[in-house]
Amino acid sequence: MYRSHSCGELRNSHIGTTVTLSGWVSKTRDKGFVVWIDLRDRYGITQLVLDEDRTSKELLEQARNLGREFVIQIKGEVIERASKNANIPTGDIEVLVSELNILNESKTPPFTIENETDGGEDLRMKYRYLDIRRNPVKNNLIFRSKVTMEVRKFLSGEGFIEVETPYLIKSTPEGARDFVVPSRMNEGQFYALPQSPQTFKQLLMVGGMDKYFQIVKCFRDEDLRADRQPEFTQIDCEMAFVEQEDILNVFENLTKYLLKEVNGVEIESFPRMTYDEAMSKYGNDKPDIRFGMEFGELNAVAQHKEFGVFNSAELVVGIAVPGAASYTRKELDALVNWVKRPQVGANGMVYVKCNEDGSFKSTVDKFYDQDDLAKWAEVTGAKPGDLICVLSGDANKTRTQLSALRMEMATRLGLRKPNEFAPLWVVDFPLLELDEETGHYHAMHHPFTSPKPGQLELLDTDPGAVRANAYDLVLNGNEIGGGSIRIHDKETQATMFKHLGFTPEEAKAQFGFLMDAFQYGAPPHGGLAFGLDRLVAILGGQETIRDFIAFPKNNSGRDVMIDAPAAIDNEQLKELNLKLDIQE
Ligand code: AMO
Repeated sequence: MYRSHSCGELRNSHIGTTVTLSGWVSKTRDKGFVVWIDLRDRYGITQLVLDEDRTSKELLEQARNLGREFVIQIKGEVIERASKNANIPTGDIEVLVSELNILNESKTPPFTIENETDGGEDLRMKYRYLDIRRNPVKNNLIFRSKVTMEVRKFLSGEGFIEVETPYLIKSTPEGARDFVVPSRMNEGQFYALPQSPQTFKQLLMVGGMDKYFQIVKCFRDEDLRADRQPEFTQIDCEMAFVEQEDILNVFENLTKYLLKEVNGVEIESFPRMTYDEAMSKYGNDKPDIRFGMEFGELNAVAQHKEFGVFNSAELVVGIAVPGAASYTRKELDALVNWVKRPQVGANGMVYVKCNEDGSFKSTVDKFYDQDDLAKWAEVTGAKPGDLICVLSGDANKTRTQLSALRMEMATRLGLRKPNEFAPLWVVDFPLLELDEETGHYHAMHHPFTSPKPGQLELLDTDPGAVRANAYDLVLNGNEIGGGSIRIHDKETQATMFKHLGFTPEEAKAQFGFLMDAFQYGAPPHGGLAFGLDRLVAILGGQETIRDFIAFPKNNSGRDVMIDAPAAIDNEQLKELNLKLDIQE
């Protein structure tokens, strides 16, 4: 038996019992006549003690020579501590060691295994197995497991069946590039790893599964960010014989359940906003509504004077930043430079200080009088003490820039509180999105999304105006899920493919299996997928999903621990009939 108890378990009530513990040496303190060891495992830390009065010389010597992260097993008696430690659950006791067995030695770890470590990100990722021994990482993984369990519990309770779908498939378009896998047995042919199980879950509906879910890995070759990994996990769901309302209900209930079970937060019902409203109020289709700073469109009150920059702009729009009228000139200059950074891309920024005495001071006083500025304050909801920040130009770009400023100011002002939860459904997404570079429309969600009833005809005349039965769940400014009601008849699906630029032959080659299936009694269906990594991170009060993934990739898509991706040898290339770089 390696252990009778864990390192997080012993309390006052155990005093006097003999126990066996196993774990890692976290710390050794040698005071000469007494040696203390902090023994760590997943469950906590227990202090071990050995001293000249009660321990044999050999044992004391053995304890002195233990290195950090040695794996040991000890036997001893639980005793009351002389000086208690209220910071840890086992802080009332210690174990007087009578036997010590070294199970494995350890090299000195490259960084300290403590809550606050001296190890940088790269080093921690290279030795991720050591990083996982640290509480913050360990606790995040335990937290993820809890959320995942609760999801399974809830969905099973609602009658959903978990079905696994294949990973070696054909392209499923979700807007990213595919990771491909060469086939050895089929020369010159490749599988694609699924960007999502989208087509399979629709086929499961044709198969009569009715309510499907899967906690499933998805693979997308796209640029990485804090909330994106090349392989990530979805809570993927699909339901038959449903309308949008049915789906929103189930997944609102799932999210409420998780907020309650995991965070102890109760939310009555989630607000809803159309895509158009989100864009005009927040310049963003995933607005963080934990704070205000809603957009005020100023065209009507800013384009009547001689200020050419505004007069030539498609949109003049501002936000009132609370309390920021007190910014110094230097701080304001820095803010203007912030919006001019290439990542934001504004040409400049006009600002208005709303003074406490009710007067205004702006960078455009030459053009606008106090009455004009008072109107701007009214439109943006600015109060005395606020700073109105105004951007102008092309409507879409300007909204995106102001949205970036809004988020930045909220972060600076501490308005994005991690333990406050503001879910929001964004509904009525456009069906298609114009690709500025190619001038072509592509599916905003994916090509299987159904247009709103009666809007199919609009596809020919005004494709950008067609709205879809598509929705996203936003939590604290992050898109945590998205879905839609699907097309379930062959003709509509063919029309969609045509509008997305597929020839009938291309559509048949890529999606013939789905169109075929639609001829055999496809029920009306729809669904949604949550990004599990994002959901877990946000419920955990953070936004970087890497911290909630055991073995994540870095920003270049590399796993620096196993050193992947890597070249493969010529033998393997030959076997796969890949002729690249083969050197005989
Ligand atoms: P979508 O592409 O919106 O929809 O993806 C669903 C959710 O998955 C998460 N997500 C990601 N998380 C981490 N890293 C990534 N690279 C990444 N990409 C997406 C997001 C997103 O909301 N098949 C459809 C769902 C459906 O229509 O039912 C789909 O995949 O949180």
